[in-house]
Amino acid sequence: MNILSPSLLSVNFNNIEADAKVLDASGVKWYHLDVMDGHFVKNISFGPPVIECIRKITDSFFDVHLMVKEPIRYIDTFRKVGADLITVHYEACENLDETLEAIRKSGAKIGLAINPDTPANAVKDYIEKVDMILVMSVYPGFGGQKFMPIALEKIKDIRNWANEQGKDLLVEVDGGINLDNVTTVIEAGANVIVAGSAVFKDDIAYNVKAFMDKMS
Ligand code: DX5
Ligand code: ZN
Repeated sequence: MNILSPSLLSVNFNNIEADAKVLDASGVKWYHLDVMDGHFVKNISFGPPVIECIRKITDSFFDVHLMVKEPIRYIDTFRKVGADLITVHYEACENLDETLEAIRKSGAKIGLAINPDTPANAVKDYIEKVDMILVMSVYPGFGGQKFMPIALEKIKDIRNWANEQGKDLLVEVDGGINLDNVTTVIEAGANVIVAGSAVFKDDIAYNVKAFMDKMS
């Protein structure tokens, strides 16, 4: 089963409660929440208090993408405000094993992300330890960028390695996904699809349905 995880970075925050209702009524089960610290990436988005507010308006699964340096400092905080899955960046952690262990201890599911310049084999040995690998298909920091095809080979490699291990791994792809390329990333092996601008531009319910039709 493929999962659509709309990135709330592109939501109109003035209208978030109504838009969340539309997402939920359209069958969306996951929300992708992009946290940016202005250090690991050149942008600042939102943090725990905002996620805590969104937690009150939906029962969706919260897929929290931490684009934060040394995220180990904040794992418990994000868990407390409602994160169901916490993804940290391979490039952002001095001690990755300790960071993943902190996520496990918090009770959240464990995600590990790689940037476009990081090879897939950097995370090969972590496949058995995590629930999800996130392959970035843009340089993280901003919505609305163009999909980088370099992600496709990485998705294929990671899916093959997981299959070899008999591991039912979630492979998420994030950045520049739209109705024209979603089939290609799924064929490569991704099963969690993040889309921001392509979901929140114009008619949300229409966009979600179009994605779900292509993803089923
Ligand atoms: C980028 C974020 C993405 C972003 C995706 O750093 O991690 O989740 O919101 O937005 P689109 O789908 O517009 O590329
Ligand atoms: Zn993201």
